[in-house]
This record gives sequence, C-alpha cells and structure tokens, in this order.
Amino acid sequence: MAVITIDGPAGAGKSTIAKELAKSLGFTYLDTGAMYRAVALAAKRRGISADDEAALDAMLEGIRLGFEDGRILLDGEDVSGQIRTRQIDFMSSDVSRHPVVRRHLTRLQRALAQGGNIVAEGRDMGTVVFPNADVKFYLTASPEVRAKRRQEQLALTGVNVPFDKILEEIKARDRADSSRKEAPLKRPEKSIKIDTSDLTIEEVFGMLLTQIKNLIG
Ligand code: DC
Repeated sequence: MAVITIDGPAGAGKSTIAKELAKSLGFTYLDTGAMYRAVALAAKRRGISADDEAALDAMLEGIRLGFEDGRILLDGEDVSGQIRTRQIDFMSSDVSRHPVVRRHLTRLQRALAQGGNIVAEGRDMGTVVFPNADVKFYLTASPEVRAKRRQEQLALTGVNVPFDKILEEIKARDRADSSRKEAPLKRPEKSIKIDTSDLTIEEVFGMLLTQIKNLIG
C-alpha cells in the first residue's frame, strides 16, 4: 500500500494533478475537499448553519458519503456538480473549522484508504490524516494566478465573476483555512513544495512523477 498526499491552497492545481497522477499510477484518487463540500451541502439542504457545531455533529451521524467512479455520493445521490458553487466554496471552509466535522471525515478518509494505493488531496493530508505518507507534496501558486484559474473554471460553468472579487474570495478562504485551530492548512513536514504559478499542468505533472519514481520506484 502506498499513499501520496497533495496539499495546498485553493487553485494551486491540486485536483487536476491528483486526478491525473492517480490515473497514470493506477491509484485511487481521494478528493477530500469534495467530502467537506458534501457536508456543507447536506447542512445547507437541512437549513443548518455552518456555525452550529452541535447540529452538524448530529447531522453527520445520519448521512452517508462515498465515491463511485470519481463522483461524490451523498446518501447515494451524485452531488458532484452541486458542490462546485461559490456558496459551497465558503460554506465548506466554514464547516471544516469544527473539530467534530474534521474528526468524522478524518476517520472516513482513513477507512477509504485502507489497504489501497491512493493519491489523497486536501489541506491536512500530509499533516494530520496521513502523516506517514510515502510521498508528500505541497502545491502552491500566487493568489493572482489562483484567482485567474478559478475565474476561468467558473466561466466554463457559465458563471462570470469580476477578477477582483474572486481574488478577494481566494484570499479570504486562504486566511480562514490557514488560521483555524484544528488542522490548519500548512506545509507538511518533509513535503516537496512546488510553486505552480509559472508552470503548465504537464510540467507540474512531470515533476511530481519524477519525484515519485525516485522515492518509491
Ligand atoms: O479543495 P476544496 O476547495 O474543494 O476544499 C473545500 C474546503 O474544504 C476548503 O476551503 C477547506 C476544506 N478542506 C479541509 O479543511 N481539509 C481538507 N483536507 C480538504 C478541504
């Protein structure tokens, strides 16, 4: 069993790279951001505030999260599209502050990884969930580059938002994810840091693959 972790802020290119890597290595891709997003969506549907830790705790016992063919399932329903809205961007960051939510999802993430080869992507993969991972990466990029990428991604779904607004949102989410008490976003010890600002996806992919071959053959 081998575990590769990829952490970093929103828009650093983690998802695209993690997906590609998993495919090329024949590993399972674990998108942990999608799990926090699905919890946020479940709360939104029930009218539960992202601040209400007790209600979130009670809710978690009654929902089922899982993956099937790369899609995220909430109680058996494919919600992969519904979790990619700007409202869920924020709400997922908010629900992820609570220790009860983190503990629940950490347990689930370790169970999903049990016995398999995985590429795990998120904010606390190399620091908290899989501290003994075989290879750890920390991908980053300037806030401007990340905002541009996010703007392009949203445009593809027909949502056009001014650049400055997206930049502000990216910075706000960085602050929230990095300053929370429980499992804040930070560079994991012994991780390989790559700034993707001036690199193409292919270049980043090549760099990661080389490192993986060197470290685990
Ligand atoms: O990677 P993403 O943008 O889909 O993640 C959505 C939010 O979920 C992010 O703002 C913080 C939270 N998250 C987390 O706290 N820990 C993770 N391992 C993954 C995501």
